[in-house]
Amino acid sequence: MIVDATSCEKAFAVAIEALAAGSLVAIPTETVYGLAADATNEAAVRRIFEVKRRPSFNPLICHCSDMEMVARYAILDPLSRRLAQAFWPGPMTLVLEADPASLLPERTTAGLGTVAIRVPSGFSNELIRRFGKPLAAPSANISGRVSATMAEHVARDFGSDVDLIIDGGPAMIGVESTILRVLDDEVELLRPGGLALEEVERVTGRQVKRPREGGTIVAPGMLTSHYAPQAAVRLNAKRVETFEALIKFGGVPVPGEDNCVHTYDLSPDGDLDEVAARLYATLKLADVVGVISIAIVPIPKEGIGLALNDRIARAAAPRCPIPD
Ligand code: TXA
Ligand code: MG
Repeated sequence: MIVDATSCEKAFAVAIEALAAGSLVAIPTETVYGLAADATNEAAVRRIFEVKRRPSFNPLICHCSDMEMVARYAILDPLSRRLAQAFWPGPMTLVLEADPASLLPERTTAGLGTVAIRVPSGFSNELIRRFGKPLAAPSANISGRVSATMAEHVARDFGSDVDLIIDGGPAMIGVESTILRVLDDEVELLRPGGLALEEVERVTGRQVKRPREGGTIVAPGMLTSHYAPQAAVRLNAKRVETFEALIKFGGVPVPGEDNCVHTYDLSPDGDLDEVAARLYATLKLADVVGVISIAIVPIPKEGIGLALNDRIARAAAPRCPIPD
C-alpha cells in the first residue's frame, strides 16, 4: 500500500500501526527512502535483511528522533557530541560506541560493539518521535542497486514484499548520509554523502581523515560494486558515443551528443545539489527506457560532488559476484 505523507495524520497512524506489528515500512527521509522496521524487534529487522537480500555482516543505521533517544543506545565522546549538535537533524550518520545496556538486537548492529546512528529531519523524524523507538532503516533498494529517491522506485524494487510505502515526494538531497566516526579525537570519513566535508571541517576546525584508496573496508557498504544500474557506466566522458546516453550538467555541449541515445542535463544551472537530487532517479530512468550504456561527464569533487564521484565510481566498477 502507498500512502501519501501529505495526508499527515493518516500516514503517521498507518505507519505506526505497521511498525508496532513488526512490519516493514518504506519511509521518506531527506537523503533517500529508507526501508524501516522497529530497531528493537529482532524478527522485524531480520525481514529487512531478507527482503533487501542484504548480507548479515552489513549492519543497519538506527534512526532516532532526538539526542535523548540517541543517548539510550550510544555513548558519545565530546567531538561526536559537537558533530551531533551541529548537524542533527540532517544527512549525517555517526558510528558510535554502543551502550552495552541498550538492548538493540545483534542483528541490527551486526554485533560490532558500535552503532551507526542518524537523526533525520522532516516526516521521518516526527514518525520516530511518535513511535517512541528507533527505526533501523537501510536505503530502500535491493542490495547493490541504486537507492530509491521516490516512492515508485521502492515499489518497483520490492513489490508486495514491503507492506507499506509512505510517499513523501522526491527526496530533497538524493544521496545517502555522510558516515563519520570519531577515533582518537580525529573525525574519520567512512562514506561521503549529503553533508559536505567542508562543513564538518568548518565546524570542528580540523581536517576530516579520508579513507585510503584500496584500504580496509570499514563500512561494508563501501564494497566496490554498488549503487549500480543495469546499464554500463563510463566516467569522465569528454565525448559521447552513438550507443550511449549522456549525463551532464551546466548546459555545456558535449561532442557527440547530437547523435547519442539521450541527453540528461541534471542541472542546466550547474548546481551540484540539483545534480545530486536527480542522479539516482535518472540512472533508474535510463534502465527503464532500456539504455545499455551511460556516459557521465567529470564532476568536481567539492561539496556534495565528493559523494557523487564515490557513487558513480561504484556504479561504474566491475560488477562483482559478491551479493551486495
Ligand atoms: O541516508 C542514509 O544513510 C540512508 C537513509 C535511509 O538513512 N540509509 C542508508 O543505509 O544509506 P544503508 O544501510 O544503505 O547504508 C548504511 C551504511 C552501510 O554501508 C553500513 O555498512 C554502514 O552504514 N554501517 C552501519 N553500521 C555500521 C557500523 N557500526 N560501523 C561501520 N559502518 C556501519
Ligand atoms: Mg544502501
